[in-house]
Amino acid sequence: MAATVRRQRLRRLACWALMTVLLADLLALSDTLAVMSVDLGSESMKVAIVKPGVPMEIVLNKESRRKTPVTVTLKENERFFGDSAASMAIKNPKATLRYFQHLLGKQENNPHVALYKARFPEHELGFDPQRQTVYFQISPQLQFSPEEVLSMLLNYSRSLAEDFAEQPIKDAVITVPAFFNQAERRAVLQAARMAGLKVLQLINDNTATALSYGVFRRKDINSTAQNIMFYDMGSGSTVCTIVTYQTVKTKDAGIQPQLQIRGVGFDRTLGGLEMELRLREHLARLFNEQRKGQRAKDVRENPRAMAKLLREANRLKTVLSANADHMAQIEGLMDDVDFKAKVTRAEFEELCADLFERVPGPVQQALQSAEMKLDEIEQVILVGGATRVPKVQEVLLKAVGKEELGKNINADEAAAMGAVYQAAALSKAFKVKPFVVRDAVIYPILVEFTREVEEETGVRSLKHNKRVLFSRMGPYPQRKVITFNRYSHDFNFHINYGDLGFLGPEDLRVFGSQNLTTVKLKGVGESFKKYPDYESKGIKAHFNLDESGVLSLDRVESVFETLVEDSPEEESTLTKLGNTISSLFGGGSTPDTKENGTDTVQEEEEGPAEGSKDEPGEQAELKEEAEAPAEDTSSPPPPEAKGAAAPEGEKAAEKDGGDKPEAQKPSEKGEAGSEGAPPAPEEEKKQKPARKQRMVEEIGVELVVLDLPDLPEDQLARSAQKLQDLTLRDLQKQEREKAANSLEAFIFETQDKLYQPEYQEVSTEEQREDISGKLSATSTWLEDEGFGATTAMLKEKLAELRKLCHGLFFRVEERKKWPERLSALDNLLNHSSMFLKGARLIPEMDQIFTEVEMTTLEKIINETWAWKNTTVAEQAKLPTTEKPVLLSKDIEAKMAALDREVQYLLNKAKFAKPRPRPRDKNGTRAEAPLNASTSDQSEKVIPPPGQTEDTKPIPEPEKETAGPEAADSEPLELGGPAAESEQKEHPEQPTGQKRTLKNDEL
Ligand SMILES: Nc1ncnc2c1ncn2[C@@H]1O[C@H](COP(=O)(O)OP(=O)(O)OP(=O)(O)O)[C@@H](O)[C@H]1O
Ligand SMILES: [Mg+2]
Repeated sequence: MAATVRRQRLRRLACWALMTVLLADLLALSDTLAVMSVDLGSESMKVAIVKPGVPMEIVLNKESRRKTPVTVTLKENERFFGDSAASMAIKNPKATLRYFQHLLGKQENNPHVALYKARFPEHELGFDPQRQTVYFQISPQLQFSPEEVLSMLLNYSRSLAEDFAEQPIKDAVITVPAFFNQAERRAVLQAARMAGLKVLQLINDNTATALSYGVFRRKDINSTAQNIMFYDMGSGSTVCTIVTYQTVKTKDAGIQPQLQIRGVGFDRTLGGLEMELRLREHLARLFNEQRKGQRAKDVRENPRAMAKLLREANRLKTVLSANADHMAQIEGLMDDVDFKAKVTRAEFEELCADLFERVPGPVQQALQSAEMKLDEIEQVILVGGATRVPKVQEVLLKAVGKEELGKNINADEAAAMGAVYQAAALSKAFKVKPFVVRDAVIYPILVEFTREVEEETGVRSLKHNKRVLFSRMGPYPQRKVITFNRYSHDFNFHINYGDLGFLGPEDLRVFGSQNLTTVKLKGVGESFKKYPDYESKGIKAHFNLDESGVLSLDRVESVFETLVEDSPEEESTLTKLGNTISSLFGGGSTPDTKENGTDTVQEEEEGPAEGSKDEPGEQAELKEEAEAPAEDTSSPPPPEAKGAAAPEGEKAAEKDGGDKPEAQKPSEKGEAGSEGAPPAPEEEKKQKPARKQRMVEEIGVELVVLDLPDLPEDQLARSAQKLQDLTLRDLQKQEREKAANSLEAFIFETQDKLYQPEYQEVSTEEQREDISGKLSATSTWLEDEGFGATTAMLKEKLAELRKLCHGLFFRVEERKKWPERLSALDNLLNHSSMFLKGARLIPEMDQIFTEVEMTTLEKIINETWAWKNTTVAEQAKLPTTEKPVLLSKDIEAKMAALDREVQYLLNKAKFAKPRPRPRDKNGTRAEAPLNASTSDQSEKVIPPPGQTEDTKPIPEPEKETAGPEAADSEPLELGGPAAESEQKEHPEQPTGQKRTLKNDEL
């Protein structure tokens, strides 16, 4: 009995637990409804959203534009973003920051920092000695790192997306240029973190564009590979990408389309901005020449004038894409002197000649990296705003040798659309058609380590070894394990970029440090001391190059194995258990391609790489891991796996596939061979009398970051707080502005009203003067002191004025309502009287109303008439300047009371049962009952009297008479004097008893 109760209790508990989990899931789902993407261009960002029931859409900003300038103005007490900031560029060039992404992830000595200083000398860049980076020094008090500025902009992009989606948004996919290295990607992630955005993925903008192209041409993708080249020239840079589209077999969704990035070439500084700067320089020269001899200052020294010239250069460049020449024109460029100069397209092309020569560079690089020839490319598609420059198209067309360039993609929005598709695919709130994305590593990554070796001669020397961890153009996301087999004590290894020879010397300097991290291991020696009788299976370092292209070292482990005797029966159970767990976790088989983000990584083992060829015993092996969803090796291993024996099958599923049965390992390293299902239990019983016991010790890791240290956690938190405070300040400022505007508007409108006849009619001159005087006083206060007034003070002033004017406004409003309300009351009274008259005329044998009911209605009609007449008369006697006694709310209340009474009687009539009556000779009834309805007359529904648009809905009858159907059935409509009224057919009413009810029968 007790056991049963316990079982029931347990079951109830389990139910509750399940419900809680489900509820949590649902909440999580509803929390993550809309997702967004930001195509973070150098000049402008394009934001897109997707929310349930609404397809992917580009977000319109506050100015209803589809592109928002990546511009932020940071002043002491206010900030501006987007278009508002862009318009501040001229007024306040120093505080208006643009193209700041070019500084992300760069140290102060990077040529791009110098280039930024040269391009935008109006900005003062401070130096952070800790990270060796720069920051914007806007004023002695105001300084912001590029990450902070980007974070503010990302936060702004979110506010645009939220306004557009009309709901909060947290999840985003953000685009980055494909050429962003580790430090640059981490900088974007840190900025997003400061803004409180959850980055689902940093997607390369070329991949996002390719995805958008593929998604909209899904039907054209088949098993035959199609190679498409995308040429994206934006404002800051140019990227050329070769993409192969074809269908592939996926594990979960069968045959699906796939895009694979095959080759990428880029030029970090070739784009619209450089063309604009050339034009600006040209215009500045022309202006200086025009003022020669006037002892005028060089326009280049005037930041405001240079900002005006840059804006004009941008406009000019765009116009010259469609016209052979154009007049550059700026009013009051400097010292109130206007500027006007004609610029031809030929001149523009001359100014940018060397830039146009660089157009084919990225194409060649892309082809080289893809190991392809031009004739393998089916189409070259233009992306990015700067490809609209005719000369760019001309040079490109020649370089690719095609008949034409593809313009069948939205050059501005494709990346944002592709990124938002990916956001929907990654978010759990949406179900999207799978599209497999295989991105490629641009910068190879190596592991390097040095070991002391003893030559045959007994001489000890240092041996430097390199292993390719992620090869150039290899797919990602991807996990890899490297096993160091010759170490029994603590050692260091280094993670560096591989061969970057494809970058020119200048690009290499821009790239920055080629060393990523030094990894110092602690605890290797102890792990060997702990398991003296075990065989070491090496030190395994688990790496992950995630969806965002960001590298991490998940963990390092020291692995040992030994054989232990087991009784066959016990072993069999353990093996069985292992098999079950293995299959539960998807172990035992290499997963197929996973859609949208993760792709098939066939497990492979690389042969000894450089440096180890001559020394086969030197062991550091490399292994790619399958990206199986259930096999998330990024999380630390389960506690029982540490320093404890675990069944083999389970290990196979959890340990990156690095531990296979001894019999299956062809090499002494214990790593080779494909990840297969463990042998069948019966087989094992026969073949394996002993069981392998595996021990795993996690090794302590100290990382020394060599490229660019991330912002320390405390600094990140401080920055996040600083930005939050600024957002709060902006919101408070907006609220204050709103309060000041409301007060100002009220004063203005009321002053105007005081001269309108309807207000003058109901106020004395004295009253008006009083109000006018207070309005003027407040207006003066607003002008003189309003600047320093708090939101509360402004609101209080408004409340005072509202109170002062309330009586006047009330009188005007009431008067406006009277005619319509009184007419509605008259109507209702008339109709009710007619109804009563009709009711009294019903013959006694058919009468359905009681005398009391009719008398009650009569009484209320009479009382209402009397109330109306008295109140209207009383009101007529009152001065117009006094509070009225005739109130619209009272008229409405009287109407509601009368209508309730009438509705009650109507409902009674509607559902009254006909009385049985004697049949005549022909067998037909002498007279139809009152509640019979018509079938031969067309229905004519007339609005209930007194219920005009403005009157409040009249409540349902309070008295319950007709059962539940009464509430649902339409009330009998009461027609006007000339209208025909009719009764609706009651469901219970037998047919053949309907007839039209004439007015005079009522
Ligand atoms: N009709 C046109 N003629 C010439 N240039 C144009 C035209 N339309 C846009 N542009 C230029 O295109 C550039 C903007 O393109 P886009 O929006 O693709 O760049 P972005 O994404 O902001 O920058 P990037 O991708 O380089 O980081 C600007 O330099 C703009 O002046
Ligand atoms: Mg772009």
